[in-house]
Amino acid sequence: MAQHTPSHSSLVTVLSRQALRSRSPPHPPAHAYTKNVSGCIRTYLGGAALEKTMSVTQLRARGVPQPVPRVTADTLLQKKLSSHPITAITAYDYPTARLVDDAGLDMVLVGDSLGMVVLGYENTLPVTLEEMLHHTRAVARALRRAFLVADMPYGSYHASIDDATRNALRFIKDAGAQAVKIEGGSQRAELVRRLTEAEIPVVGHIGLTPQSVHSMGGYRVQGKTLAAMDRLAADAQALEDAGAVAIVLEGIPRELAARITHQAAVPTIGIGAGPDCDGQILVFHDLFNLTFSPPTKFTRQYADAAAFFTSALTQYRDDVAQHRFPTDAESYHLSREVQSAVATAHPRARKA
Ligand code: KIV
Repeated sequence: MAQHTPSHSSLVTVLSRQALRSRSPPHPPAHAYTKNVSGCIRTYLGGAALEKTMSVTQLRARGVPQPVPRVTADTLLQKKLSSHPITAITAYDYPTARLVDDAGLDMVLVGDSLGMVVLGYENTLPVTLEEMLHHTRAVARALRRAFLVADMPYGSYHASIDDATRNALRFIKDAGAQAVKIEGGSQRAELVRRLTEAEIPVVGHIGLTPQSVHSMGGYRVQGKTLAAMDRLAADAQALEDAGAVAIVLEGIPRELAARITHQAAVPTIGIGAGPDCDGQILVFHDLFNLTFSPPTKFTRQYADAAAFFTSALTQYRDDVAQHRFPTDAESYHLSREVQSAVATAHPRARKA
Protein backbone atom coordinates (compact mmCIF):
# COMPACT_ATOMS: atom_id res chain seq x y z
CA MET A 1 0.00 0.00 0.00
CA ALA A 2 1.31 3.54 -0.75
CA GLN A 3 2.72 5.50 2.23
CA HIS A 4 0.78 8.74 2.80
CA THR A 5 3.50 11.25 3.64
CA PRO A 6 2.40 14.59 5.16
CA SER A 7 3.36 16.40 1.98
CA HIS A 8 1.20 13.99 -0.05
CA SER A 9 -1.88 14.59 2.11
CA SER A 10 -1.43 18.35 1.99
CA LEU A 11 -1.25 18.05 -1.79
CA VAL A 12 -4.55 16.16 -1.67
CA THR A 13 -6.08 18.93 0.46
CA VAL A 14 -4.87 21.61 -1.95
CA LEU A 15 -6.21 19.64 -4.89
CA SER A 16 -9.62 19.13 -3.32
CA ARG A 17 -9.88 22.83 -2.41
CA GLN A 18 -8.93 23.59 -5.99
CA ALA A 19 -11.62 21.21 -7.25
CA LEU A 20 -14.23 22.89 -5.04
CA ARG A 21 -13.28 26.34 -6.35
CA SER A 22 -13.37 25.27 -9.98
CA ARG A 23 -16.81 23.64 -9.78
CA SER A 24 -19.03 24.56 -12.71
CA PRO A 25 -21.12 27.67 -12.17
CA PRO A 26 -24.90 27.21 -11.94
CA HIS A 27 -26.76 26.66 -15.21
CA PRO A 28 -27.18 29.81 -17.25
CA PRO A 29 -30.71 31.16 -17.67
CA ALA A 30 -32.86 29.41 -20.27
CA HIS A 31 -32.42 32.11 -22.91
CA ALA A 32 -28.64 31.67 -22.84
CA TYR A 33 -28.87 28.16 -24.31
CA THR A 34 -30.31 29.18 -27.63
CA LYS A 35 -27.73 31.94 -28.05
CA ASN A 36 -24.78 29.62 -27.67
CA VAL A 37 -25.61 26.94 -30.18
CA SER A 38 -22.27 27.38 -31.92
CA GLY A 39 -20.30 26.86 -28.69
CA CYS A 40 -18.44 23.77 -29.93
CA ILE A 41 -17.35 25.46 -33.14
CA ARG A 42 -16.21 28.56 -31.30
CA THR A 43 -14.22 26.39 -28.93
CA TYR A 44 -12.53 24.73 -31.89
CA LEU A 45 -11.77 28.04 -33.62
CA GLY A 46 -10.13 29.67 -30.66
CA GLY A 47 -11.86 28.81 -27.43
CA ALA A 48 -14.63 31.15 -26.32
CA ALA A 49 -15.77 28.58 -23.75
CA LEU A 50 -13.48 29.13 -20.77
CA GLU A 51 -13.62 25.76 -19.06
CA LYS A 52 -16.00 23.58 -21.01
CA THR A 53 -15.21 20.19 -19.54
CA MET A 54 -17.45 17.96 -21.65
CA SER A 55 -18.07 17.85 -25.39
CA VAL A 56 -21.82 17.75 -25.05
CA THR A 57 -24.45 19.03 -27.42
CA GLN A 58 -26.15 22.14 -26.17
CA LEU A 59 -29.75 21.08 -25.81
CA ARG A 60 -32.67 23.28 -26.59
CA ALA A 61 -34.05 25.24 -23.66
CA ARG A 62 -37.12 23.60 -22.18
CA GLY A 63 -40.21 25.57 -21.32
CA VAL A 64 -39.32 28.45 -23.62
CA PRO A 65 -42.31 29.57 -25.70
CA GLN A 66 -42.14 28.27 -29.25
CA PRO A 67 -41.38 31.18 -31.55
CA VAL A 68 -42.91 29.43 -34.58
CA PRO A 69 -46.18 27.55 -34.85
CA ARG A 70 -45.96 23.79 -35.26
CA VAL A 71 -46.63 22.35 -38.70
CA THR A 72 -49.66 20.05 -38.58
CA ALA A 73 -51.49 17.85 -41.06
CA ASP A 74 -53.73 20.83 -41.74
CA THR A 75 -50.70 23.03 -42.56
CA LEU A 76 -49.71 20.45 -45.18
CA LEU A 77 -53.22 20.50 -46.62
CA GLN A 78 -53.22 24.30 -46.76
CA LYS A 79 -49.95 24.14 -48.67
CA LYS A 80 -51.49 21.80 -51.21
CA LEU A 81 -54.53 24.04 -51.58
CA SER A 82 -52.39 27.14 -52.05
CA SER A 83 -49.89 25.36 -54.34
CA HIS A 84 -46.94 25.91 -52.01
CA PRO A 85 -44.65 22.86 -52.21
CA ILE A 86 -44.30 20.81 -49.01
CA THR A 87 -40.64 20.33 -48.08
CA ALA A 88 -39.76 17.07 -46.35
CA ILE A 89 -36.69 15.00 -45.51
CA THR A 90 -35.78 12.06 -43.32
CA ALA A 91 -33.81 12.40 -40.08
CA TYR A 92 -32.81 9.82 -37.53
CA ASP A 93 -31.00 11.62 -34.72
CA TYR A 94 -30.97 14.77 -32.61
CA PRO A 95 -28.31 16.91 -34.35
CA THR A 96 -29.47 16.32 -37.91
CA ALA A 97 -33.14 16.72 -36.96
CA ARG A 98 -32.27 20.01 -35.34
CA LEU A 99 -30.45 21.22 -38.44
CA VAL A 100 -33.42 20.21 -40.58
CA ASP A 101 -35.86 22.01 -38.28
CA ASP A 102 -33.73 25.14 -38.14
CA ALA A 103 -33.51 25.10 -41.95
CA GLY A 104 -37.31 25.38 -42.02
CA LEU A 105 -38.39 22.11 -43.65
CA ASP A 106 -42.06 21.33 -43.14
CA MET A 107 -41.93 17.63 -42.43
CA VAL A 108 -39.43 15.20 -40.96
CA LEU A 109 -39.85 11.47 -41.46
CA VAL A 110 -38.04 9.03 -39.23
CA GLY A 111 -38.01 6.56 -42.08
CA ASP A 112 -37.24 2.89 -41.78
CA SER A 113 -34.53 3.69 -44.35
CA LEU A 114 -32.79 4.12 -41.00
CA GLY A 115 -32.01 0.42 -41.31
CA MET A 116 -29.89 0.95 -44.40
CA VAL A 117 -28.42 4.43 -44.00
CA VAL A 118 -27.73 4.41 -40.28
CA LEU A 119 -27.81 0.85 -38.93
CA GLY A 120 -26.04 -0.94 -41.78
CA TYR A 121 -28.77 -3.47 -42.59
CA GLU A 122 -29.11 -4.76 -46.13
CA ASN A 123 -32.71 -3.58 -46.47
CA THR A 124 -35.48 -2.15 -44.30
CA LEU A 125 -36.98 -5.49 -43.28
CA PRO A 126 -34.95 -6.17 -40.12
CA VAL A 127 -35.66 -2.77 -38.55
CA THR A 128 -37.47 -3.29 -35.25
CA LEU A 129 -40.20 -1.34 -33.53
CA GLU A 130 -37.85 -0.55 -30.65
CA GLU A 131 -35.20 0.83 -33.03
CA MET A 132 -37.78 3.07 -34.70
CA LEU A 133 -39.09 4.28 -31.35
CA HIS A 134 -35.57 5.01 -30.10
CA HIS A 135 -34.71 7.16 -33.11
CA THR A 136 -38.13 8.83 -33.20
CA ARG A 137 -37.64 9.97 -29.59
CA ALA A 138 -34.28 11.52 -30.46
CA VAL A 139 -35.75 13.38 -33.42
CA ALA A 140 -38.80 14.50 -31.42
CA ARG A 141 -36.50 16.08 -28.83
CA ALA A 142 -34.94 18.21 -31.56
CA LEU A 143 -37.98 19.43 -33.48
CA ARG A 144 -39.95 22.55 -32.73
CA ARG A 145 -41.66 23.34 -35.99
CA ALA A 146 -41.60 20.44 -38.44
CA PHE A 147 -44.37 17.84 -38.63
CA LEU A 148 -42.91 14.61 -37.27
CA VAL A 149 -43.90 11.38 -39.00
CA ALA A 150 -42.59 7.99 -37.88
CA ASP A 151 -42.40 4.97 -40.14
CA MET A 152 -43.98 1.81 -38.81
CA PRO A 153 -41.42 -0.91 -39.50
CA TYR A 154 -42.08 -4.16 -41.32
CA GLY A 155 -43.95 -6.59 -39.08
CA SER A 156 -45.31 -3.93 -36.72
CA TYR A 157 -48.64 -3.57 -38.55
CA HIS A 158 -48.99 -6.81 -40.47
CA ALA A 159 -50.18 -9.33 -37.87
CA SER A 160 -53.47 -7.77 -36.80
CA ILE A 161 -55.20 -4.42 -36.63
CA ASP A 162 -55.23 -4.48 -32.83
CA ASP A 163 -51.52 -5.20 -32.72
CA ALA A 164 -50.87 -2.44 -35.27
CA THR A 165 -52.96 0.06 -33.31
CA ARG A 166 -51.07 -0.69 -30.10
CA ASN A 167 -47.76 -0.23 -31.91
CA ALA A 168 -48.87 2.98 -33.64
CA LEU A 169 -50.01 4.41 -30.31
CA ARG A 170 -46.49 3.99 -28.96
CA PHE A 171 -45.12 6.28 -31.67
CA ILE A 172 -47.58 9.01 -30.69
CA LYS A 173 -47.76 8.51 -26.94
CA ASP A 174 -44.22 7.45 -26.02
CA ALA A 175 -42.05 8.76 -28.86
CA GLY A 176 -43.62 12.12 -29.70
CA ALA A 177 -44.54 11.54 -33.36
CA GLN A 178 -47.45 13.48 -34.83
CA ALA A 179 -48.30 10.81 -37.40
CA VAL A 180 -47.28 7.33 -38.49
CA LYS A 181 -46.55 6.17 -42.01
CA ILE A 182 -47.49 2.75 -43.32
CA GLU A 183 -46.77 1.16 -46.68
CA GLY A 184 -49.50 -0.25 -48.92
CA GLY A 185 -52.72 0.82 -50.62
CA SER A 186 -56.22 -0.63 -50.55
CA GLN A 187 -55.08 -3.57 -48.40
CA ARG A 188 -54.28 -1.07 -45.61
CA ALA A 189 -57.50 0.94 -45.85
CA GLU A 190 -59.15 -0.78 -42.89
CA LEU A 191 -56.06 -0.24 -40.76
CA VAL A 192 -55.86 3.43 -41.76
CA ARG A 193 -59.51 3.82 -40.76
CA ARG A 194 -58.92 2.24 -37.36
CA LEU A 195 -55.82 4.29 -36.64
CA THR A 196 -57.61 7.46 -37.69
CA GLU A 197 -60.46 6.57 -35.33
CA ALA A 198 -57.83 6.23 -32.59
CA GLU A 199 -56.75 9.85 -33.30
CA ILE A 200 -53.56 8.73 -35.00
CA PRO A 201 -52.91 10.69 -38.20
CA VAL A 202 -51.69 8.33 -40.90
CA VAL A 203 -49.48 9.01 -43.91
CA GLY A 204 -49.91 6.39 -46.64
CA HIS A 205 -47.10 5.20 -48.89
CA ILE A 206 -47.66 3.60 -52.28
CA GLY A 207 -45.69 2.81 -55.45
CA LEU A 208 -42.25 1.41 -54.78
CA THR A 209 -42.73 0.30 -51.19
CA PRO A 210 -39.37 -0.96 -49.91
CA GLN A 211 -40.92 -3.29 -47.33
CA SER A 212 -42.36 -5.26 -50.29
CA VAL A 213 -38.90 -5.79 -51.80
CA HIS A 214 -39.38 -9.57 -52.00
CA SER A 215 -42.91 -9.50 -53.41
CA MET A 216 -41.92 -6.77 -55.93
CA GLY A 217 -38.87 -8.84 -56.95
CA GLY A 218 -36.46 -5.98 -56.19
CA TYR A 219 -36.62 -2.21 -56.10
CA ARG A 220 -38.46 -1.42 -59.35
CA VAL A 221 -40.38 1.61 -60.57
CA GLN A 222 -44.09 0.78 -60.18
CA GLY A 223 -47.19 1.82 -62.13
CA LYS A 224 -45.77 1.61 -65.62
CA THR A 225 -48.73 -0.07 -67.35
CA LEU A 226 -52.29 1.19 -67.72
CA ALA A 227 -53.57 -1.50 -65.35
CA ALA A 228 -50.89 -0.73 -62.76
CA MET A 229 -51.63 2.99 -63.05
CA ASP A 230 -55.30 2.37 -62.35
CA ARG A 231 -54.46 0.13 -59.41
CA LEU A 232 -52.22 2.76 -57.81
CA ALA A 233 -54.75 5.54 -58.42
CA ALA A 234 -57.39 3.34 -56.72
CA ASP A 235 -54.96 2.69 -53.85
CA ALA A 236 -54.50 6.43 -53.33
CA GLN A 237 -58.27 6.93 -53.33
CA ALA A 238 -58.77 4.10 -50.82
CA LEU A 239 -56.19 5.61 -48.46
CA GLU A 240 -57.73 9.04 -48.75
CA ASP A 241 -61.24 7.64 -48.12
CA ALA A 242 -59.94 5.82 -45.06
CA GLY A 243 -58.62 9.07 -43.58
CA ALA A 244 -54.94 9.28 -44.54
CA VAL A 245 -53.68 12.85 -44.08
CA ALA A 246 -51.05 12.60 -46.85
CA ILE A 247 -49.70 10.00 -49.25
CA VAL A 248 -46.06 9.34 -50.13
CA LEU A 249 -45.65 8.39 -53.80
CA GLU A 250 -42.38 6.57 -54.33
CA GLY A 251 -40.78 5.34 -57.54
CA ILE A 252 -43.61 5.90 -60.01
CA PRO A 253 -43.71 7.70 -63.39
CA ARG A 254 -44.16 11.45 -63.25
CA GLU A 255 -47.38 11.21 -65.28
CA LEU A 256 -49.01 8.86 -62.78
CA ALA A 257 -47.88 10.99 -59.82
CA ALA A 258 -49.43 14.03 -61.52
CA ARG A 259 -52.71 12.17 -62.04
CA ILE A 260 -52.90 10.99 -58.42
CA THR A 261 -51.91 14.44 -57.11
CA HIS A 262 -54.61 16.07 -59.21
CA GLN A 263 -57.28 13.60 -58.07
CA ALA A 264 -56.33 13.46 -54.38
CA ALA A 265 -57.90 15.78 -51.84
CA VAL A 266 -54.93 15.17 -49.52
CA PRO A 267 -51.31 16.17 -50.18
CA THR A 268 -49.00 13.84 -52.10
CA ILE A 269 -45.31 13.82 -51.23
CA GLY A 270 -43.06 12.40 -53.90
CA ILE A 271 -39.74 10.61 -53.91
CA GLY A 272 -38.72 9.51 -57.37
CA ALA A 273 -42.17 10.57 -58.57
CA GLY A 274 -41.40 13.77 -60.46
CA PRO A 275 -42.07 17.44 -59.78
CA ASP A 276 -45.87 17.49 -59.91
CA CYS A 277 -46.48 16.14 -56.40
CA ASP A 278 -47.60 18.52 -53.66
CA GLY A 279 -44.27 18.06 -51.92
CA GLN A 280 -40.93 16.29 -52.10
CA ILE A 281 -39.06 14.10 -49.66
CA LEU A 282 -35.51 12.75 -49.83
CA VAL A 283 -33.38 10.60 -47.57
CA PHE A 284 -31.01 12.85 -45.60
CA HIS A 285 -27.94 10.75 -46.38
CA ASP A 286 -28.59 10.97 -50.14
CA LEU A 287 -28.35 14.77 -50.06
CA PHE A 288 -24.94 14.62 -48.41
CA ASN A 289 -23.17 11.71 -50.12
CA LEU A 290 -23.30 9.60 -46.99
CA THR A 291 -24.57 6.36 -48.54
CA PHE A 292 -21.28 4.99 -49.95
CA SER A 293 -22.99 4.51 -53.32
CA PRO A 294 -23.50 6.58 -56.46
CA PRO A 295 -26.61 8.78 -56.38
CA THR A 296 -29.76 7.39 -57.96
CA LYS A 297 -31.59 9.16 -60.81
CA PHE A 298 -34.16 10.78 -58.53
CA THR A 299 -31.84 12.13 -55.81
CA ARG A 300 -29.70 15.23 -55.87
CA GLN A 301 -26.48 15.56 -53.91
CA TYR A 302 -26.29 19.02 -52.35
CA ALA A 303 -23.01 18.60 -50.50
CA ASP A 304 -20.21 16.08 -50.11
CA ALA A 305 -20.19 15.41 -46.39
CA ALA A 306 -18.20 12.21 -46.94
CA ALA A 307 -15.28 14.22 -48.36
CA PHE A 308 -15.66 16.83 -45.63
CA PHE A 309 -15.57 14.24 -42.82
CA THR A 310 -12.77 12.23 -44.40
CA SER A 311 -10.56 15.30 -44.74
CA ALA A 312 -11.13 16.30 -41.10
CA LEU A 313 -10.61 12.74 -39.86
CA THR A 314 -7.31 12.27 -41.68
CA GLN A 315 -6.08 15.65 -40.40
CA TYR A 316 -7.00 14.63 -36.86
CA ARG A 317 -5.32 11.23 -37.28
CA ASP A 318 -2.14 12.92 -38.58
CA ASP A 319 -2.16 15.55 -35.84
CA VAL A 320 -2.30 12.88 -33.14
CA ALA A 321 0.27 10.68 -34.88
CA GLN A 322 2.67 13.66 -35.30
CA HIS A 323 2.20 14.93 -31.72
CA ARG A 324 0.47 18.09 -32.99
CA PHE A 325 -2.70 17.42 -30.99
CA PRO A 326 -3.35 18.30 -28.26
CA THR A 327 -1.19 21.39 -27.73
CA ASP A 328 -0.38 22.93 -24.39
CA ALA A 329 -3.16 25.47 -25.01
CA GLU A 330 -5.62 22.59 -25.39
CA SER A 331 -4.62 21.15 -22.01
CA TYR A 332 -5.78 21.89 -18.46
CA HIS A 333 -3.16 23.18 -16.00
CA LEU A 334 -2.56 23.15 -12.30
CA SER A 335 -2.56 26.53 -10.56
CA ARG A 336 0.85 27.95 -9.56
CA GLU A 337 -0.05 27.13 -5.94
CA VAL A 338 -0.63 23.47 -6.69
CA GLN A 339 2.37 23.31 -9.01
CA SER A 340 4.64 24.43 -6.18
CA ALA A 341 2.98 21.91 -3.85
CA VAL A 342 3.74 19.22 -6.44
CA ALA A 343 7.35 20.45 -6.72
CA THR A 344 7.73 20.24 -2.92
CA ALA A 345 6.17 16.80 -2.71
CA HIS A 346 8.04 15.39 -5.68
CA PRO A 347 11.22 17.48 -6.08
CA ARG A 348 12.69 15.15 -8.65
CA ALA A 349 9.56 14.90 -10.78
CA ARG A 350 10.12 15.91 -14.39
CA LYS A 351 8.82 19.39 -15.25
CA ALA A 352 6.10 19.44 -17.95
O1 KIV B 1 -37.99 5.12 -45.06
C1 KIV B 1 -37.95 6.13 -45.75
O2 KIV B 1 -36.98 6.90 -45.73
C2 KIV B 1 -39.08 6.42 -46.61
C3 KIV B 1 -38.94 7.54 -47.57
C4 KIV B 1 -38.12 7.07 -48.70
C5 KIV B 1 -40.23 8.08 -48.02
O3 KIV B 1 -40.06 5.76 -46.54
